[in-house]
Amino acid sequence: MSQAPESLTAKLIPIYIMGKRYEVPETLTIMKAIEHAGYKFIRGCGCRGGICGACGTVYRRPGDYRIHVGLACQTVVEPEMVLTQIPFYPANRASYDYATMEAVGAAVGALYPELFRCVACNACTKVCPMDVEVMDYIAAVKRGDLAEAMRLSFDCIQCGLCASRCMGELPQYHIAQLVRRLYGGKLAPATDHVDAMVKKIADGYYQQKIDELKKMSVDELKKLYTAREQEPHQAPELWKAKSAEGL
Ligand code: FES
Repeated sequence: MSQAPESLTAKLIPIYIMGKRYEVPETLTIMKAIEHAGYKFIRGCGCRGGICGACGTVYRRPGDYRIHVGLACQTVVEPEMVLTQIPFYPANRASYDYATMEAVGAAVGALYPELFRCVACNACTKVCPMDVEVMDYIAAVKRGDLAEAMRLSFDCIQCGLCASRCMGELPQYHIAQLVRRLYGGKLAPATDHVDAMVKKIADGYYQQKIDELKKMSVDELKKLYTAREQEPHQAPELWKAKSAEGL
């Protein structure tokens, strides 16, 4: 006899979504609990895997003055939590000509002069659901150390929660993205295998395969996707793809 899904047997706990009380299975992530409560995601949900940054969520616990944060797709519900999602937070994003831009801190500062409004309060770091040292990478940009800013901001998933708490009104995550682009394209040492792959793509090596995929039905695509060779969950570092095609 097949077992009932966990969401049908788990204990129900109360949570508050945008101020309204719902009873949801205690085992669910916030994202699944929101869906369990009857909401349908149109925004605020992308990868469901902790990568895309679409599902930033803030919540409070009963009797706790602090704001807590998490990614709705990764964070499990808690009894009596009061939550809302912040799938987008407005933040200034500069336009620039990447090709002519110099990869130096002064160039970043010229595009984002608000960098120097940072008062080092560290609210950005405290609110980051990825535990990125946001204040520290901003400090690195200010002193022109783009390599360090790139390293410190590498795990940023662009959820924008840092900008939501910043008293200096910085768009930290846009600044970090620019720094990583500058570092990756203009400062990091060139690698032969990347150059070779870029050339392969530019020469149309994959075009025939792309054309074939575009002609397939949804069912054919699903079948192909399901049958693909997959990296194992355990010890992926020991795994090697059978074919180096596309790597
Ligand atoms: S849905 Fe992509 S990080 Fe949560």
